[in-house]
Parts: sequence; structure tokens; C-alpha cells
Amino acid sequence: MNPAAIDRYLELWRITKTYQGAAGPVSVVKDFNLTVKQGEFISLIGHSGCGKSTVLSMVAGLSEPSKGGLVLAGREITGPGPDRGVVFQSPSLLPWLTALQNVTLGIRQVKPTASRKEIDEIGAHYLTLVGLGDALHTRPPELSQGMRQRVGLARAFALNPKMLLLDEPFGMLDSLTRMELQQILIDLWLEDQKTALMVTHDVDEALLLSDRVVMMTNGPEARVGEILEVPFARPRDRFALIEDPQFEALRDQLVGFLEDHAVGHAAERVAQQRSEKTDSESGLPTVTPAELVTVEDA
Ligand SMILES: Nc1ncnc2c1ncn2[C@@H]1O[C@H](COP(=O)(O)OP(=O)(O)OP(=O)(O)O)[C@@H](O)[C@H]1O
Ligand SMILES: [Mg+2]
Repeated sequence: MNPAAIDRYLELWRITKTYQGAAGPVSVVKDFNLTVKQGEFISLIGHSGCGKSTVLSMVAGLSEPSKGGLVLAGREITGPGPDRGVVFQSPSLLPWLTALQNVTLGIRQVKPTASRKEIDEIGAHYLTLVGLGDALHTRPPELSQGMRQRVGLARAFALNPKMLLLDEPFGMLDSLTRMELQQILIDLWLEDQKTALMVTHDVDEALLLSDRVVMMTNGPEARVGEILEVPFARPRDRFALIEDPQFEALRDQLVGFLEDHAVGHAAERVAQQRSEKTDSESGLPTVTPAELVTVEDA
């Protein structure tokens, strides 16, 4: 691929998404522009209801833009496809299939000529990387929520997609499981260096994982407000990162943006988040940022 194509691997050009509301059409996002380099990890943050999932679902091809266009690796996105591995809050696994069968289902689609053995080996490889090497033949009802989300991550990576799309992938998990899965995602990403777009409410998670954090303004007509470059070298160590004075400054910048865009009760909650310090002993935020920045837009 030529250098320009690598620099503009994913391109969202003047995306507008309009829904028919009770009082007429409402544009949730308007003139949303973003260019992502190949191999870049981008986080998308913004208040609840601003349109983060709307943007992600258009990249996934699950919904069409009303105006504008999306291009991935030189091709317009016109629908869903296995070139994008999608991870949602809950992984929607088929309960009657084993972990391995859930993962291999998609691989068969992208490698139609591979033998059953080859496909199983790929599936087993990714399940082992996410720590489920001993649970290949276990069915989802017998797996914990964190284990199911590991299967979801393995399934997305096993497709060897052009892009990973993650919508609050750890939002339903307790803090410890969340930390474990963040580390698994970091390790998987270091191995494969997939271009990734992740929606998160958690500013610490965004700083730990991303190359850039894209901050969205409030909807309706939400767009890109600011973009923060995350300068920390990789591989990153969570404990070293939170000791870094630059981390605090970048965190302040993200929280400051959310604070400036907070409405109603969110303003108070974001102000509280600003004053919170990360507990450097455990590496856990003392208050879950998701609790603090979630706001029902008035
Ligand atoms: N199918 C739809 N029809 C009409 N309105 C919709 C539809 N899907 C989303 N919306 C509206 O678009 C806005 C943005 O929703 P979206 O789910 O993208 O927000 P979000 O930023 O992901 O929020 P959260 O952080 O709570 O997940 C909301 O006001 C929502 O009500
Ligand atoms: Mg959402």
C-alpha cells in the first residue's frame, strides 16, 4: 500500500447521521471528519448520547450515513463485513456452541479454503492468547462475563480484520477484570498492531491504550471537538504511566473537555472526577470514570 493510503487508512468524510425524531429530523452527528493511520489505536470519548456508537456503527457498516462517506483501506464502506472485527459490551455468543466453535465460525467465512484443523488451530491460538486455552470446549453459559468477553476479543482478532471496532468493550466488567482485559487487549494489539477505534467513557483507559483520543462535542450535531495525541512509548506499563506527571496533565485535558461539555448533573460529576486521583498502589481509579461522566443529555 502506498504511504498516502497508510496515512489515510480509515477516512470519515463529513459524516452526518439524521434520525426522524418526534419533532422532526435530528442530526445526531454532523460534518464528522476523522482520518486514522494504519496501525493506529484511536479512542472516542464524549458524553452519553453524543453519538459515539452511532459513529462506530457506521464504520462497522451496520448503519449508513445520511451524508458523507467512509473509506477503509481504499474502499468505501457500504455494509458490514469480516474485514472489521467488532466487540460490543456483551459479546453475543451462540450459547449452544463451544468457545472454540464461536471463534471459528467467523474464521471459516474469511478462510473458506482452509481445513477444519487449520481453522481450529487459529481459534485455539487466539483463545490461548486471551487466557482461555483450558476452556476451548466450554459453552458460554458456563463462562463468567469476563471470560465471555475474552471469547469476544479472541473472535475479533482471529478474523485477522483490517480494523477492530470496540464499543465500551469493558463497560460491564468489574475494575479488576477490566484491568486484566485491558492488558489482554494491549498484548493482542502489540502482537498484531491492528488499526483500532474504541469507544470508552474511561479517560484512564483511553490514555493507557490509545495513540490519539478523539473528543466528541455534545449532540445533536456532534462532531470532533479536540484530538489529544498520547505520547507515551509502547509497551506501556500502567503503573509507570500513572506516576508520570505528563499523565496527570493529559488526564486533566480530557476531563477538562468533558467538564466544558457537561450539562446538568454531569457538570458536578465531572468536576468530582477532576479532583479524583488514581490510586497509585492498585493502579485503579478511585472512582470509576464511567460513573462520573455518564450523562443523559437534556
Ligand atoms: N435508531 C435510532 N433512531 C433514533 N435515534 C437514535 C437511534 N439510534 C441512536 N439514536 C439517538 O442518537 C443519539 C446518539 O446515540 P448513541 O447511541 O450513538 O450515543 P452514545 O454516545 O453511544 O451514548 P452512550 O455513551 O450512552 O452509549 C441519542 O440521542 C440516541 O437517542
Ligand atoms: Mg454508545
